[in-house]
Amino acid sequence: MSDPKIIVALDYPDASSALQLADQLDPQRARAKVGKELFTRSGPDVVKALVSRGFDVFLDLKYHDIPHTVARACAAAADLGVWMMNVHTLGGSAMMQAARDAIGDADDAPLLIGVTLLTSMDQATFDQIGLSGTMTDTVVRLAGMAKDSGLDGVVCSAQEASALKQALGHNFQLITPGIRPAGSDRGDQHRTMTPKEALSAGSDYLVIGRPITAAADPMQALLDIEASLT
Ligand code: C5P
Repeated sequence: MSDPKIIVALDYPDASSALQLADQLDPQRARAKVGKELFTRSGPDVVKALVSRGFDVFLDLKYHDIPHTVARACAAAADLGVWMMNVHTLGGSAMMQAARDAIGDADDAPLLIGVTLLTSMDQATFDQIGLSGTMTDTVVRLAGMAKDSGLDGVVCSAQEASALKQALGHNFQLITPGIRPAGSDRGDQHRTMTPKEALSAGSDYLVIGRPITAAADPMQALLDIEASLT
């Protein structure tokens, strides 16, 4: 069975644009991420349409609520047949454990991933919220909490991947956005890594949006990125 490392971020405002792009990709070579805009506009139908086309879907809704509510949302996401979903680690251990309990840990259960600190958070916002310690220590601490609560991994910056792998072990999955193939437009991403650098640093899955979705030939862009990994 193929095990694609690339998760294509389908950041579109409507299902038909997202599916039009997905139809240009081979689900054996890429997985698909559905985020808040697409889901809020198109709902579960777009997820079901991707699953029925053979895509592993990462439902990136970053749940953060009381444990019971998050557990029910995670169970609903699992019922859609998603491959991966995520919750905010700042919701705490009880919330993360409730999410885990709701979807179980069978081999075919979806992967449950935590979001630590958003990479958009700067020091001023961190201080304003009132968290103590450094941002790096906080990311490692929250990722450790996620692991202890039964999560399968965290979303993180590729810059944090090697420290997190060292602290949390090989089996704890690291999902990294902010990936830019050499020479491509960074857009609004700041601290980027190339796909190959990110995998060497310890990333397990690369979330890549515009370098593929905005390419004239998205499948070719995907194949070029695959080729750059070897
Ligand atoms: O187009 P691009 O490759 O920048 O898309 C990256 C994707 O990863 C987007 O869907 C973005 O919301 C998401 N993401 C991110 N940084 C995070 C978490 C998620 O860029 N820290």
